[in-house]
Amino acid sequence: MSKLKIAVQKSGRLNEDSMRILKDIGIYIDNGKDQLKASAKGFPVEVFYLRNGDIPQYLKDGVVDAAIIGENVLIEKGNNIKVAEKLGFSTCRVCIAVPKSSNYKTIKDLEGKRIATSYPNTVQGFLNENGVNAKLHIINGSVEIAPNIGLADAIVDIVSSGSTLFKNNLKEVEVILKSEAVLAVSPILNQEKQAILNTIQFRMQSVLKGRK
Ligand code: PRP
Ligand code: MG
Repeated sequence: MSKLKIAVQKSGRLNEDSMRILKDIGIYIDNGKDQLKASAKGFPVEVFYLRNGDIPQYLKDGVVDAAIIGENVLIEKGNNIKVAEKLGFSTCRVCIAVPKSSNYKTIKDLEGKRIATSYPNTVQGFLNENGVNAKLHIINGSVEIAPNIGLADAIVDIVSSGSTLFKNNLKEVEVILKSEAVLAVSPILNQEKQAILNTIQFRMQSVLKGRK
């Protein structure tokens, strides 16, 4: 019998919430995160611990069958990846932030400016919609440091509590999109795996209803 391969974030904010919902639907995984792959007890599921940004491509290629992932990552990287279920946790927003001292008024103020981000497609789309030309600097983490080291005039990153912005003397000026964790599905699923997924999705719906 085949097993459904589910990807979750290896480390970071989504990991804990993802593991919790898997546990709540009766998928128990006993080994630690050091292993990149783990089999579930009593259910035909394997869990893969992966880097967030790699997950959309793995779904596309059918390397994994499903994933618990931030919608913002799918929007940034995943063309045609289907969302089976919105999961309601790990909510955040993708925002533009500038130094607190900036007298930013509108998005037009970013014309010709440098923006540091890990979400270039999302940012470029937003700039295009607003007819603004800016230079993007792609960095993979600790984006909020960029204005302080003179690398950028603004940043785009995810904001949850706002504490990272605060600590780095930045202020939020635009919300590009709002995001939450979702159950995403590979376009390549055989019938057997689809059946396992249906069971998982049904159980998740019950758990989420119970949480309300
Ligand atoms: C994420 C994100 C923001 C921060 C937002 O970074 O990139 O920096 O969390 O959360 P907050 O509004 O609650 O402070 P993370 O700590 O995951 O590290 P990284 O940017 O180095 O990947
Ligand atoms: Mg960060």
